Amino acid sequence: MAAKRVGILTGGGDCPGLNAVIRAVTRKGIDTYGFEVIGVLGGWKGMMERKSMPLDLNAVSGILPKGGTILGTSRTNPYNEENGEAIVIESMGRMKLDALIAIGGDDTIGVAHKLSESGLNLIGVPKTIDNDLDGTDQTFGFDTAINIVTEALDRLHTTAESHHRVMVVEVMGRHAGWIAVEAGIAGGADMILIPEEPFDLNAVCESIKKRHKRGKTFSIMVVAEGATTPDEGLILQSKEKDAFGHVRLGGIGPVLGEEIEKRTGFETRVTVLGHVQRGGTPTAFDRVLGTRFGIAAIDLVGVGEFGKMVALRGTEIVAINLKDAVSKLRTVDMRLYDIAKVFFG
Ligand code: F6P
Repeated sequence: MAAKRVGILTGGGDCPGLNAVIRAVTRKGIDTYGFEVIGVLGGWKGMMERKSMPLDLNAVSGILPKGGTILGTSRTNPYNEENGEAIVIESMGRMKLDALIAIGGDDTIGVAHKLSESGLNLIGVPKTIDNDLDGTDQTFGFDTAINIVTEALDRLHTTAESHHRVMVVEVMGRHAGWIAVEAGIAGGADMILIPEEPFDLNAVCESIKKRHKRGKTFSIMVVAEGATTPDEGLILQSKEKDAFGHVRLGGIGPVLGEEIEKRTGFETRVTVLGHVQRGGTPTAFDRVLGTRFGIAAIDLVGVGEFGKMVALRGTEIVAINLKDAVSKLRTVDMRLYDIAKVFFG
């Protein structure tokens, strides 16, 4: 069946580059395939509530450099709602959508996979600043995030050096420490803590003391929000969970800062970068990757190949099965972490 009306939605946390995908899908969908493109508002919530807007060439004009998503997003999980799947299936019919492109991280793509198994024409596009989606070598949004964090580290060096302080910088990264490792290497971090390798606080403090003994008067430490200690596990901001069962992370930075100051005697300050990492205009890399993903997604709709997620493999854009995209988390390559460790202390 050749698709005529194509829906597109953005789910999960907002991410720089989403608008590049929306623009690419809309431009090629209309110009090349003659599709009608419908923007579903607010992720899966919009599918359940049937909230949408038509997307034409003017609607996507000028959105390329904009952060966030013009469609809005939510963390709604239809499989957590009563009759959620049936409601989405009914919405596809009522909204007269022949196909749906879902742009999101593991949660959104996981829902797309289940709906596809139930017979809907779904295509996934991977996004997350965490870069932890298996099946693609990189997600868009990550490059912007690491550039923001690198700039922050450069700026924080100023205060660290002038005041002879330890600066603890908490960055995002729920299950994977990609942001911490890549931005940490780029920003010259003296210590990087990630979820993949629980850390020993005593060893961390000893490393800082050793560094200061050899004459350095400051230290920059990057910690991913999902980093853990063997005894205490995750340090949580609140025990509240979202619709996909994730607790809200954040809070490890201040706890760590206090302990480091206590154990080393060095004045310590903490910066929690939080949503700044997801904000603002995407880098050129993320705009290009988002555009390539969008074009590949609408091409799959064009040839009627559903149940796929577009992905970056090396320098090529490929299509993989949705099932394979969500089966495994993509954690930090320990060889990269070993490179980072050369510069610790
Ligand atoms: O999934 C991306 C992400 O930015 C994570 O790094 C972070 O833990 C989470 O989203 C924050 O979610 P929210 O914006 O809902 O607080």
